[in-house]
Amino acid sequence: MREFPVAAEDAPTPWKTGLLDQLAVDRPELRMRLRAGLEQTEKLLLATTGDAADPRIAEAAGHLARAGGKRLRPLLVLLGAEFGEPWWAGVTEAAVVAELVHIASLHHDDVMDRAPTRHGVPSVHARFGTRTSVFSGDWLLARGARLAADLSPAAFRLHAATADRLVEGQLLELAGPAEGEDEVGHYFRVLSGKTAALLSMSLGIGALQAGVPEQYVAALTGFGEELGCAFQIADDLLDLRSSAGTSGKERGTDLLAGVTTLPVLLALAGEHPQDAELRELLAAGPVPEASATRALELFARSPALAESEAALHRRLDLARAALDALPEQPARRALLSLCDYVAVRSS
Ligand code: FPP
Ligand code: MG
Repeated sequence: MREFPVAAEDAPTPWKTGLLDQLAVDRPELRMRLRAGLEQTEKLLLATTGDAADPRIAEAAGHLARAGGKRLRPLLVLLGAEFGEPWWAGVTEAAVVAELVHIASLHHDDVMDRAPTRHGVPSVHARFGTRTSVFSGDWLLARGARLAADLSPAAFRLHAATADRLVEGQLLELAGPAEGEDEVGHYFRVLSGKTAALLSMSLGIGALQAGVPEQYVAALTGFGEELGCAFQIADDLLDLRSSAGTSGKERGTDLLAGVTTLPVLLALAGEHPQDAELRELLAAGPVPEASATRALELFARSPALAESEAALHRRLDLARAALDALPEQPARRALLSLCDYVAVRSS
C-alpha cells in the first residue's frame, strides 16, 4: 500500500526566535552571536532535510523541520560552544545534528502516542502514514549520523552514545517497571533516556566542537541531564495547571490519555487521606472525559502536586549547582536563566 504522495501543503509555522528572547542575555554581542548561530542552523537544517534522492522523501522528512519548534537543542549546542571557541568549524553542524535527532524521535513518538498534530500542523504519521513517519524518522537519524561523522571524534562518540539512550528510554516506557521496581524510579529512568540524554548531548557536542576543556564539558552535560528531567516534570505539571492554555498544551491531555506523569504516580503511590478520591479515579485507568474536571480539581489541592513541584525545584537546583563549576560569563548566566524559564513554564 502506498503512503505517498500527499495533499496540498499545510501553511508552515514560521521559525520563532521565542526561546532566545526569553533568556537573560546581558551582552548584545552574545545575543547577536546566538541569533546568527540559530539562523545558520535553520538554513542548514532545512537544506539537510530537503536534500533527498526523491522530493517526496524530502517532503515527509522536512515536514516537522519546516513547521517550526523551539529549537531548544540547537540553542544548547550554541551555549555549550560559548565556553570555548564558538566560531570554530562544526558548531552549526552539531546544532543541526541535535535537532535532527530530536525531530527523528518526534516522528517515532507521534506514532507511539497517535498524536494528530505537532507544532500546530498535522503530525507526520497523520499526514503521510505510519510507516512513512517511522522510516522518514530513521532517514533523519541517518542524516544526523552523516553530519556527526564530520564532528570531532569526542563529539561523534557522544552523539553515538546518546541515540541508543533515547531509544532505551522509549523501550523502558513501553516495558513498564520491572518486577518489584519502584514506579517513580522507573519514571526517572525513562525520563533520563527520553528527554535528559538529548539535552545533555546538545550541550556536550557544542562544547566539544568548540574545544571546551574536559571538566567544563562534564559540568555542561551534567547541567543538561538535570535540566532535561526538570523540563519533563514541568511538562507534567503544565498538564494539570489552569494557566497552561498559554503554553500551547491543552490542559488534561495526559490525564485523558492515561499518561503516567509524575503527579499521577505520586498521587497513586502516596497515602494522603485527601487523595483517596483522586486515587480511586486514577487507579481505574485513563480518566474519562466526564471526570476530567473533577480530577483536575482534586489535583489542585493534592499533596502530589506540591511534591512534584518540589521534585522539579530539586532538579533545577541540581542544574544550577552543576553550573558552579563553570567560569562566570554571559553564557553561564543565560543557562541559569533557562532554569528560571523552566520553573515559570510549569506554573
Ligand atoms: C516526546 O515525549 C518524545 C521524546 C522526548 C523522545 C521519544 C523517543 C523515541 C520515540 C525513541 C526513538 C528515537 C529516535 C532517535 C528515532 P512525550 O510524548 O512525553 O512528549 P510530547 O507531548 O511532546 O509528545
Ligand atoms: Mg508524545
